[in-house]
Amino acid sequence: MYVKPEFRGKGIARSLICEALSLARSVPELKQVNLCANARNLTAIKLYESLGFKAFGHEPGSMLINGELQDEIHMYLRLADG
Ligand SMILES: CC(C)(COP(=O)(O)OP(=O)(O)OC[C@H]1O[C@@H](n2cnc3c(N)ncnc32)[C@H](O)[C@@H]1OP(=O)(O)O)[C@@H](O)C(=O)NCCC(=O)NCCS
Repeated sequence: MYVKPEFRGKGIARSLICEALSLARSVPELKQVNLCANARNLTAIKLYESLGFKAFGHEPGSMLINGELQDEIHMYLRLADG
């Protein structure tokens, strides 16, 4: 998910992920949604947590960005029981 800097803080990311989750919930066979976020990206992580996502893993050095290893947080959201 990416929102151009000039459009940030207007609820676009929240709308995007809510729409994606609404689509996911319309598929009965879909039980869970997983995602990952850069561990430094607290804005994104808080947004996902506010929608019910829970962290289940911290992957050290998941990405090499400009020669620097960066960690990722893995998260899941259970859509239905079972
Ligand atoms: C993370 C990102 C997608 C958020 O997009 P956005 O459209 O600005 O987000 P929204 O306006 O929907 O805001 C979502 C929540 O984050 C909060 N938020 C947004 N920008 C923030 C900031 N700079 N600092 C703190 N909180 C912030 C908002 O208050 C909102 O919370 P609320 O709904 O409880 O009020 C955007 O900053 C981005 O594209 N970043 C670069 C790419 C990236 O990091 N993608 C995520 C990869 S996992």
